[in-house]
Amino acid sequence: MRWLVTGGLGFIGSNFVRQALRDRPDLEIVNLDAMTYAGNPANLRDVEADPRYRFVRGDICDPDAVREAIGDGTDAIVNFAAETHVDRSILAPEAFLRTDILGTHVLLEAVREHEIPRYLQVSTDEVYGDVADGESGEGDPLRPRSPYSASKAGGDLQVLAYWTTYETPVLITRGSNTYGPYQYPEKLIPLFVTNLIDDEAVPVYGDGLQVRDWLHVDDHARGIAHVLEHGAFGNVYNIGGGNPRTNLEITQRLLDGCGRSKETHVKHVADRAGHDRRYAIDSAKAAGIGWRPRVEFETGLRATIDWYRENESWWRPLKSGEFRDYYTRQYAGRYH
Ligand code: TYD
Repeated sequence: MRWLVTGGLGFIGSNFVRQALRDRPDLEIVNLDAMTYAGNPANLRDVEADPRYRFVRGDICDPDAVREAIGDGTDAIVNFAAETHVDRSILAPEAFLRTDILGTHVLLEAVREHEIPRYLQVSTDEVYGDVADGESGEGDPLRPRSPYSASKAGGDLQVLAYWTTYETPVLITRGSNTYGPYQYPEKLIPLFVTNLIDDEAVPVYGDGLQVRDWLHVDDHARGIAHVLEHGAFGNVYNIGGGNPRTNLEITQRLLDGCGRSKETHVKHVADRAGHDRRYAIDSAKAAGIGWRPRVEFETGLRATIDWYRENESWWRPLKSGEFRDYYTRQYAGRYH
């Protein structure tokens, strides 16, 4: 059995590769990754020497790179490759359209050309847009509101159109906000933890009462593999953590975990443009095929804080260089 994973040097992709190789002794994985700022070879240093693992550097928008990664065939493609950060999509949307829509198209064409038996698109609950109450089901209309989520929705629609038009064997997962080890420190949890370790303040957007549903990356990775193996083609599966929390609640947990106080280490800064207030998804359909999250949130969050404390050598290099430029651009004008 061989799977082609794209974007396997990113956060969810690298956790997926590690878990899949560990749980499936007969599995080979080819990882096609463009090594953008978020694709970090250190994320998979521990599997580099595994003979069942092969790395190909390349962009999913490049059909030749995709062809090379497919080589003499693959049993499945799992597409993690994406631009994913909402704030970056507000500053510079074009890369999002390119990778998240055009890249998806190139992969779908490769699935058709090489008659790959299954394709899974890793998507996000953000495509449903802001959900005032209740929970989004897979059949709900897509109302994305940021350049990021609109690009992911565009990818999802391409995937579903290929099912309708060509009967391409596709699946989609829509995960909720994911946390855990190896997450690039631009996202809420790793940004805040690493700032707090460094005795810096954390920038809370607006009132901090926005709600996200938190899912541990191990549960997310297992959910994707489960849908890949047990899902029905042409279907979408929500993968939610079932842990709705406001950003202020998360912030308080991180302050406690790092021994810092709200009074000295929280800054309320200008809100994100078009900030979605709440995401919530119903994962009953994934439960119906046998997937459920297992990681208890408080335990998972504590372990995640510990991981960043114990792995400074992983994140410290990331917070200099490219990140510094981004951080300055993103946050400099926000403090009021
Ligand atoms: P983020 O991790 O960017 O994920 P997403 O926007 O895709 O849900 O942000 C999670 C929440 O945290 C979101 O409501 C925005 C908020 N947030 C802050 O308040 N400050 C920050 O510096 C960041 C990065 C996020």
